[in-house]
Amino acid sequence: MKSILRYNVCVRRGSYGFDAPWALAGLFFGAVVQLALVAVSFAFDVPAAGIAFLLGALYTLASAGSYLYTTRRGKFAVWGEELGRIEGDEQVLDLGCGRGMVLLLAARRLRGGRATGIDLWSGKDQSGNAESVTRANAEAEGVSDRVNLVTGDMRELPFEDGRFDLIVSSLAIHNIPTAEGRDQAVKEAHRVLRPGGLMLIADFRHTSCYEDVLRGLGVVDVRRRDLGWRFWYGGPWFKSEMLEARKPGSNGVEARSADGEGAAVPKVGRLHQDAAPVKDVGDGA
Ligand SMILES: C[S@@+](CC[C@H](N)C(=O)[O-])C[C@H]1O[C@@H](n2cnc3c(N)ncnc32)[C@H](O)[C@@H]1O
Repeated sequence: MKSILRYNVCVRRGSYGFDAPWALAGLFFGAVVQLALVAVSFAFDVPAAGIAFLLGALYTLASAGSYLYTTRRGKFAVWGEELGRIEGDEQVLDLGCGRGMVLLLAARRLRGGRATGIDLWSGKDQSGNAESVTRANAEAEGVSDRVNLVTGDMRELPFEDGRFDLIVSSLAIHNIPTAEGRDQAVKEAHRVLRPGGLMLIADFRHTSCYEDVLRGLGVVDVRRRDLGWRFWYGGPWFKSEMLEARKPGSNGVEARSADGEGAAVPKVGRLHQDAAPVKDVGDGA
């Protein structure tokens, strides 16, 4: 079963670009410069410098390889596993959906539910980022009938309170330049999450701050876990964490009724279970 899911995640019909393409280009450029310096060092008979530059070039190339793997493969595999908890009828919101990697993986698991993605479509944060590209990806993946795209800022979500069962975000909130702005985005996510709903935020910086904001809002069911090497953006020093939080609700299982009115309907299912073995990380992130 697991191998079938992996296969499905790998078979992508959309086109998803590269995260922060300037960072990846910088790593490759750095490696080329160091390789040129290796040649110069040996040409001028300074072998010690040549060896130092060679080691630097290999290290930078390894970082570029890790980054390339994560942005093209690893993050898809990780999110494919995380989203295994979706049952099919949820209202899902993806903050900073970009070209739709998480959004469309979630949509593929939905039957009656809908997946909404909100973004400002910044080309600096993801190559070729545009609403039209995400829409074309939704068509290509065969899920456009259950996907909404909204152009907007995650610091000011244009949705009513308690609208979503599941809120996801991948490598997006850290792009907000100020701490106040990032806090505001997390507060907004909490506002539009229904009582008993689940939040999954993957990021490579600031996750401990997101946790503090949620705890300040009274969320006690919060944890962070290391997402492992498949989510390294260049190496273990740029590793990512998953922040997983459940908004308090009546018995923790309050759910949206079939007519969407948010009545307290007991709901027990995979969305209420852990996706992966939990390995908490400390406060050092
Ligand atoms: C690195 S990309 C990640 C995209 C997608 N989540 C993925 O993992 O493929 C970060 C995304 O966050 C979006 N973004 C940055 N700041 C935003 C904001 N304040 N509101 C909405 N989206 C934002 C960018 O436009 C970009 O699409």
